[in-house]
Amino acid sequence: MKTITSLSQMLKTSLALRKKGKVIGFVPTMGFLHEGHLSLVREAKRKSDVAVVSIFVNPTQFGPEEDFQKYPRDLNRDRKLLQQAKCDFLFCPYQKQIYPPGHSTHVDQEDLTERLEGASRPGHFRGVVTVVAKLFNIVQPDLAFFGQKDAQQVVVIKKMAAELNFPIEIVTCPTVRDQNGLALSSRNAYLNADECRQALSLSEALQKAKDLIRLGEKDPRAVTNTMREVIQKNSSALIEYIALTDAKKLKPVDKIQRDVLISLAVRIGTTRLIDNICLKVNEKVREIRC
Ligand code: PAJ
Repeated sequence: MKTITSLSQMLKTSLALRKKGKVIGFVPTMGFLHEGHLSLVREAKRKSDVAVVSIFVNPTQFGPEEDFQKYPRDLNRDRKLLQQAKCDFLFCPYQKQIYPPGHSTHVDQEDLTERLEGASRPGHFRGVVTVVAKLFNIVQPDLAFFGQKDAQQVVVIKKMAAELNFPIEIVTCPTVRDQNGLALSSRNAYLNADECRQALSLSEALQKAKDLIRLGEKDPRAVTNTMREVIQKNSSALIEYIALTDAKKLKPVDKIQRDVLISLAVRIGTTRLIDNICLKVNEKVREIRC
């Protein structure tokens, strides 16, 4: 695996690979890698000739009160994991190169970013969309891989890529969970043992929602009420939102039908966690990806 830090070097490398007809698969990350990230890398390896992974803790997607400074970082460990996953190129640019002094151009995806994470974290998606657009321009991938874990992010990126005419296929990969159902996240590193136990209520609530819908429940309020009950049994859990929305437009639904995204954000102590499932609801109910 080759490590590249310079933007011009990355672009040169990608252009040379493309000239040779190689298909480039790209996995953007903020590092502190876990099996969720690595599943994306393996999918990139399967679907492309060359896998490029970026590690960049993007300051513009963190709010002023958020955890940018303390976000976990361990580049040496990440490098080893990527080597094992047969990643071809690790791109880890410096902040000053991505955002040189005076940088003032941003990409805003309106409409899809007003709700859910966008409502809870003002400015978050402007930061995400801006950095991903920049990374797409630098890495020039044919395919880019994102996790269902951040469902709104993938829906927003798909729309941005289409509307800004990036000739890139956006691939959504399933959420990787631990053996107890907890969705893997770099932020799980903040949880102590008791909080880890309480954090299981997020996936339990989603599972309960799926069971209710399988039994024929059509009323979103009935589902959110049950989910609230499951989560509120935990003393450190504070629900930020639980939402049933249309999986494409992310608008709240008043009847459960077709493709419904059930997403939630919960604080466990001081750690903010998100999780979701997306369901196709017709005669049968099954999990799908956004
Ligand atoms: P990060 O949180 O590091 O996640 C990088 C990618 O890994 C995202 O596409 C995310 O959805 C995926 N991912 C995280 N946990 C996962 C899990 N348990 N299962 C499957 N996939 C998972 O998302 C970001 O970074 C940033 O916003 C970024 C897109 C890199 C822009 O800065």
